[in-house]
Amino acid sequence: MLMETSERPMEAGSSAPLCVAITGASGALGQALLRAWHRRGARLIALTSSSNPLEVLDAAGQPIAMEQLSWQVGAERELAAALMAVDVLVLNHGVNVHGQRSTEATSLSLEVNALSSWRLLELFAELHAHRPASRPKAEVWVNTSEAEIEPAFSPLYEISKRLMGQLLSLRALDLAPTLRIRRLVLGPFRSALNTVGLMGPQFVADQILRQAEFGLNLIVVTPNPLVYVLMPLTTLGRWLYFRLLTRA
Ligand SMILES: NC(=O)c1ccc[n+]([C@@H]2O[C@H](COP(=O)([O-])OP(=O)(O)OC[C@H]3O[C@@H](n4cnc5c(N)ncnc54)[C@H](OP(=O)(O)O)[C@@H]3O)[C@@H](O)[C@H]2O)c1
Repeated sequence: MLMETSERPMEAGSSAPLCVAITGASGALGQALLRAWHRRGARLIALTSSSNPLEVLDAAGQPIAMEQLSWQVGAERELAAALMAVDVLVLNHGVNVHGQRSTEATSLSLEVNALSSWRLLELFAELHAHRPASRPKAEVWVNTSEAEIEPAFSPLYEISKRLMGQLLSLRALDLAPTLRIRRLVLGPFRSALNTVGLMGPQFVADQILRQAEFGLNLIVVTPNPLVYVLMPLTTLGRWLYFRLLTRA
């Protein structure tokens, strides 16, 4: 359970703060999410593919205490020991190759935007399959983007985000008993990935946590009203289709 206060969010039956790990931590939304979780008293792990030390400042300009861990796409299993202690894993890393369509750009998009997140999802589910009842249900938040259902004017970005969105719908059928899965469907916000985004990353991060506090698993933050209608219908349609045509 999350709380909109400077108090520590408490685990059920425990006084320990939630441990939250966020990939793409040095990016615009990664840093904004770290700030938003810090305000809620979470213990933070910044997962970054960069080797540069990450400093994120709070509203008072003070550095936020966090553990920084390096990881690389393809080496997800190296995070296993660190992920054992994590309560909420936010899969937020992403790349946009815009107009490219080379072999390398295709591989990068699929690996970063879809396959690495899928592997981390499976690893996290495996690690938390037998969590003690005293700990809250482990959560994975997956940042897929409204490119799951809308044009993003970047074909490889759309293909890779749609693949991740569909894999998430498929695997959630088996993983939901182990994990609470939340899907983040975001509209355009300003970052290195999208320099002309309409929204600010901190606004988006605050909205994400607010909707999570309302108990939503499908978290939509976008100025486009169509997405609020189409995304629930899309996930419902996939749920039915995958359930009918596949077995556990
Ligand atoms: N900006 C938008 O309009 C928008 C809209 C909807 C969804 N999103 C999604 O939001 C997420 C965050 O994006 P952002 O807009 O905040 O962009 P960003 O500032 O560029 O952050 C993305 C981060 O992903 C990580 N990353 C990039 N390439 C990687 C690689 N090869 N391997 C591992 N990590 C890599 C990097 O963080 P590290 O260096 O710390 O690893 C990078 O800073 C992405 O999944 C994006 O698709 C963005």
